[in-house]
Amino acid sequence: MGASLKRAAHDILIGNDLGGYTVPTKGLYPYQWNWDSVFVALGFATFDLDRAWRELETLFEGQWTDGMVPHILFRKNDPGYFPGPSVWQTSHEPFPTSGHSQPPVAAIAVRDMFEKAPTDENAERAKGLFPKLMAFHRWWATYRDPSGEGSVAIIHPWESGRDNLPDWDEPLSLVDVSRIDAYERKDTTHVDASMRPLKQDYDRYMAILQSGRAVGWDPHKVVENSPFLVADPAITMILLRANRDLLALAERLGFQRERVEIQGWIARLERGVASLWNETVQAYTTKNLRSGVFGAGVSSAAFLAPFAGISDPKVLDPMRNHFDRIAGKVTYMVPSYDPDYEGFEHMRYWRGPVWAVVNYMIARGLREQGDTLRAERVRQDTANLVAKSGFAEYFSPIDGTGAGGRSFSWTAAVWLAWVSPTHAVEAA
Ligand code: GLC
Repeated sequence: MGASLKRAAHDILIGNDLGGYTVPTKGLYPYQWNWDSVFVALGFATFDLDRAWRELETLFEGQWTDGMVPHILFRKNDPGYFPGPSVWQTSHEPFPTSGHSQPPVAAIAVRDMFEKAPTDENAERAKGLFPKLMAFHRWWATYRDPSGEGSVAIIHPWESGRDNLPDWDEPLSLVDVSRIDAYERKDTTHVDASMRPLKQDYDRYMAILQSGRAVGWDPHKVVENSPFLVADPAITMILLRANRDLLALAERLGFQRERVEIQGWIARLERGVASLWNETVQAYTTKNLRSGVFGAGVSSAAFLAPFAGISDPKVLDPMRNHFDRIAGKVTYMVPSYDPDYEGFEHMRYWRGPVWAVVNYMIARGLREQGDTLRAERVRQDTANLVAKSGFAEYFSPIDGTGAGGRSFSWTAAVWLAWVSPTHAVEAA
């Protein structure tokens, strides 16, 4: 069982490889996606480190001159996807991209891949990427802390990578949709509509996209003009973790001058995370920077605190209580949203389902902090989900049904990099 799943995961990565870059899955997502590619690189690194570096190098070919790494790279037009390059209207060369970013996990993978085999050749590959990572992290620091509180603001739910999280409902409800262009969705031609965002959400996604396009994707004006501006604990914590890894890389690779700047980013993000502590919920939640309203419930982001290197017991004790409460409610950890919350839907995208890449980051943080019991619960549940339902895009935390796209690259990659190597899995 373990060996055949490993082979299947390997074959998914090879099958979704379009020549130096990998699509998340054919049909539904036919382009290169930002954070997908990073997890994919970790998967490739288990059997072809050169190909793993290539995945990251091709991702950074999409980097804008201001440092932003977009969430989608449109290398060749695919009419089966909406919204494509003609809707975004960005001006990147030699190929178009989307107009905002996604969770900045790249530095984490670069450090992992270098430390896996710190040869001269791998040091060269890491050194080639280092200035690009600096520019990317500087872009977040320069443009995405408009509140000055140190947290990371996103201008679109898609930027979070957690597209229809219940926490976006309140900020989305303030978005005016009266002037959106007519459009036709393509996602629901690939996947059942019950597993995808609703039309009312999609209208708002389009309105926000149009607000960025209207200001030519100028990074300052995008933030000023976006009807949606929300501080995201997941991105804030991921960037904090990524900066810690970038600092370690700077030390290992001899980038002495950059260290002070990175240390400044770390201090600021530590403050920023603190500004997202929600007393009522007793967890880190989102915060609408336009209305000041905090997110209403516990999302899987709350469990990323250890991954971000946060060790304050005032935070970790309530986090463990939430973990144990939720673990008693679902069969498979970690649901993307609290099952005790009225907005929870076990099969709809980011309103409940389990995502393997988020589990990977949560479990890694827990393990690093010595919480092997909870880390192992998350790993074993992920193993059982894949054994039961294959390499789906996401899974029901209640009954383990696979949902969304199939033969999914990042689920396969995480299987290779984390879930499979050491332990047995439940029979299907
Ligand atoms: C969805 C997910 C996003 C992911 C993309 C490609 O939009 O919400 O996180 O990057 O699919 O897999």
